[in-house]
Amino acid sequence: MNYKKRSAQNLLGILNDLKRRPEDAAADLKIPVDELNYYLSGEKEIPAELIRRAAGIWPVNERDFYCVNDDCPIGVKIMRAKESAKTSRVMKRAGQPYYEYRDTVASTVGQFRPEWIKELCIVDNNSANHQAVQWNNGHFLHQFTYFIGPVNFYYKGERGDKKVAVMNTGDSMYITPFVPHTFATRKNRAGEKGLILALTYGNKLAGETQQELSAIGPELAADYALDFSTREKAAASLLRFHREAAGIDHPELTRRTGLSLSLLEKYELGTVLPKPDDLEALAEALNIDRRELLPPDDIQKKVLVNYYRTNRRWDFPSIDPAYKLVELARTSHLSHSRALELKVLKQSDKNRDILDLKVGLHQYVYNVGNSPVNINWRTDDHEYCESIMPNDSMYVKPFVPHNFRGPDGKLLVLRIGGRVAGEPQRELSLIGKQNSARAFGEMIPWFNQEGRNKV
Ligand SMILES: [Fe+2]
Repeated sequence: MNYKKRSAQNLLGILNDLKRRPEDAAADLKIPVDELNYYLSGEKEIPAELIRRAAGIWPVNERDFYCVNDDCPIGVKIMRAKESAKTSRVMKRAGQPYYEYRDTVASTVGQFRPEWIKELCIVDNNSANHQAVQWNNGHFLHQFTYFIGPVNFYYKGERGDKKVAVMNTGDSMYITPFVPHTFATRKNRAGEKGLILALTYGNKLAGETQQELSAIGPELAADYALDFSTREKAAASLLRFHREAAGIDHPELTRRTGLSLSLLEKYELGTVLPKPDDLEALAEALNIDRRELLPPDDIQKKVLVNYYRTNRRWDFPSIDPAYKLVELARTSHLSHSRALELKVLKQSDKNRDILDLKVGLHQYVYNVGNSPVNINWRTDDHEYCESIMPNDSMYVKPFVPHNFRGPDGKLLVLRIGGRVAGEPQRELSLIGKQNSARAFGEMIPWFNQEGRNKV
């Protein structure tokens, strides 16, 4: 659907939410109703000046009127190695060339900010305190990194101590936002420079969520960050958050659950983990889903270093496999992020090629091998095929049926949930498939002026 149509649906959604009929909205904006209907038809974009006026009248933001661009209408977007090379820029640190950066594929739809980074700083030992190494301040985005060649990865440990991990091709790491880190090439006889694919991405906090936090203000919004230092503390903070939101104090919760006051206090102090039966009773008393009170299964480290030789590997599908998969670094905290190395086992066979891959996550794919790989895919009943050469990269939209074919193909695949997978997906599922199209873009007013007697 084109941008004008989507922004017209978006406008109708805003008016529905504000409970304004076109004539009410036109009167508020001091424009003829025909003009407003023209914008609602999707034939003409709403002028920026009118959006500014609307934001001054109604409790809405100017950005609410603008839609996300879709730069990937056929489901797959490719960036060739040659185009990546054109974006080359060298970053200096302490006056010395430190990194060469190149963009790889990124889309307005997915949240990947993936970079190809060559390590220009060379170290002659593996000390975490090497003088040539220049640290960054950490950053907001999550980072998965795939290593190619002899690279040292430096990071701040849990106690603020400097650490170094000696990485080689195929090794990988995941790093939580704001952990300071840096990379350098390890001196080697061949004079090879180390290379990393640094795939940074926003998760649920990026975009609209970050805007909401910022508008609430740093002092108030800081209270959203609960104490998740241990599982007990996490369960305690979640229980307190929901109890306070429900307007219930300890004596009332005791009355509703039959749990003793002293046990409830222990649960909220985080000295013991609530028993499963007690969690159920608490959820029922608070009238919430039990999962809201569950702490993370495991409190994982902020930096996860993953060595290729130790990784889990398997065939997919198990019978007549088309791929050999190797799991790379990931954290259980991000259930919708997965990093894989994918070896292609089959050649193209146009007569009986099936599109054997379809995943509900945004995918970033980089050809890390030495051979071309064909991607076949289908979008809106059209079949497409493109050859992906070494160092080409591509973005694949969620749920696009596709496959990879070609001898000796080796791909790096990073899958992320974006904004939808997880909590919003559960909300959409509760709304149901039937109504989901209206949730994507409103098509009808919330009521009919002529009346509706039958539903
Ligand atoms: Fe980084």
